[in-house]
Amino acid sequence: MAEDPVICTCLDMCKSEIVAAVREQKLKTIEEVGDAIEAGAVCGSCHDDIQEILDEENA
Ligand code: FES
Repeated sequence: MAEDPVICTCLDMCKSEIVAAVREQKLKTIEEVGDAIEAGAVCGSCHDDIQEILDEENA
C-alpha cells in the first residue's frame, strides 16, 4: 500500500482524503478544494502540494 502523507497539517488531512474529494466533487482549483473540504483554506502552506494533486487528477 502506498504511503498516505499528511498534505494539510492545519486540518491533519491526508493525500487520500484530498484525492477522494477532488475525484468525487470534480474539483479543479485550490479555491474549490478549500470551499469543499477546507484543506488549504487555513494557512495556505500546503497549496503547492494541493496543486500537485489537482495536476495529477485533472491531467
Ligand atoms: S497546511 Fe493546509 S492550510 Fe495550513
